[in-house]
Amino acid sequence: MINSTGTQPGQGAGDEQKRSQATLSSTGVEALSSTSLRCVECSTLYPAVEAGKAPRYRCDCGGVLDVETVFKFPGQRAQSSQDVDAVFFGSEVDGTPAAGAAWRQLFDERASNPPIWAISTDKLLLDYSGVWRYRDLILPVPEEYVISRPEGNTGLYPVGIENCGAGRAGHRRIGTYAGLERFFLKHEGENPTGSFKDRGMTVGVTMANILGAKAVACASTGNTSASLASYAAQAGMRGIVFLPAGNVAGGKLAQSLAYGAQTVQIQGDFDDAMRLVEQVCNELGIYLLNSLNPFRVEGQKSLGFEILQQLDWQAPDWLVLPAGNLGNTSAIGKAFRQAYRLSLISHMPRIASIQAEGANPFYSSYMQGFAQYKPVQAHTVANAINIGNPVSYARARRVIEESDGVVEQVTDEEILAAKAVIDTAGIGCEPASAATLAGVRKLVERGIIKRDERVVGVLTGNLLKDHKTGIPQEASGVVVEPTLEAVRKVLA
Ligand code: F0G
Repeated sequence: MINSTGTQPGQGAGDEQKRSQATLSSTGVEALSSTSLRCVECSTLYPAVEAGKAPRYRCDCGGVLDVETVFKFPGQRAQSSQDVDAVFFGSEVDGTPAAGAAWRQLFDERASNPPIWAISTDKLLLDYSGVWRYRDLILPVPEEYVISRPEGNTGLYPVGIENCGAGRAGHRRIGTYAGLERFFLKHEGENPTGSFKDRGMTVGVTMANILGAKAVACASTGNTSASLASYAAQAGMRGIVFLPAGNVAGGKLAQSLAYGAQTVQIQGDFDDAMRLVEQVCNELGIYLLNSLNPFRVEGQKSLGFEILQQLDWQAPDWLVLPAGNLGNTSAIGKAFRQAYRLSLISHMPRIASIQAEGANPFYSSYMQGFAQYKPVQAHTVANAINIGNPVSYARARRVIEESDGVVEQVTDEEILAAKAVIDTAGIGCEPASAATLAGVRKLVERGIIKRDERVVGVLTGNLLKDHKTGIPQEASGVVVEPTLEAVRKVLA
């Protein structure tokens, strides 16, 4: 069982001796026996874990892998014959409307139990996590291996002209800027380490725990590394992060250092660091926790499920998000597809991925009907998405095609202008997140998103991650003598 900090009894940081003796857990392997990894390119199927073999991150053909699992409705609820009919779904099997209603009820019950920490039980902690609440649709792992802060449960702000109350004039300015009547912003910067990455990381580190990994690593533009550092520290694992030297925002770097991860700055960009970390992990037997790792994508699906639940399972018309390495586009698209097939929702939202103009390989490929894909040398002020060769291209392409989605690009100026609107509304976000609002505005202007459609935009990271870019530094330069007269002059 996990305790209130999410670690197993006797498995704290510094418990090096025990950790080094760790082996693949047989209960974990058994629980994952109905879970497989399928190649996105050639459809070859592999077991999720193989005793005695190194973890697999790619197909033999080089393609990335996607988790396939059998969804199992919790056994204790299988009472009536109608329920029994709803017990097993293959991940590719359609659900009946009754089954969809049962899933909704299950998740709503779990969400309605407020955590009372004084009498906390492990189950309460799992239900409270905005990831593990949906555990039956994420990954069938034994609860005692779960490493959770917990995460998720982030705010969904109504900011549209119509759905934002008159008392919140500041927030409504965002809707006016976007040109939308019914617009919501989902603020993933409210996660434990300040970005959406915690959703995938709790599942990735839980898998590392099942595999008995002693060390975990990632390449990162800063947020994945902050998240990895935090969860590795919690689990008592060695965290190693590879960062593009000189191109990571101060708040993110500070997190990795403070959480105690070994921080290696690579003289190169994110794409160089990504290439390197894959080699290093395979070579040195370190568990890789980039979104190349398919289990991270499973955790990130919860962002999609949580948005649907917060909207009382009324799917929005559009979901708009910034796109870099394309893990998040892949994950949210997969969540919506599964929610639709299980009848949790009645239609698939369309997905709009927004890239920075200086880091736009996905956009360029989309504009050619995905006939071609060419990596680019990335240059954008939004350094979280300064990525020229996204690992999850093939997964994300499927999402855009399947959801009748679009890919848009926005300039650095448009990103910074949108950030100023979000910041001065009192919500705030880091630069890459503002690509969402810049993209929404452009798509509304172009008539692709209609003014009266229901739209959810994702803000991926917290304002404090980057306290410099796009923030009016000159405004902090006003220093006055401590007299009423001096202050009066400044405020005049
Ligand atoms: N927004 C923020 C704040 C990010 O940190 C990232 C990715 C994205 C958007 C793009 O998401 O890669 O799933 O398409 N950051 C990664 C990192 C690359 O290392 O933290 P994506």
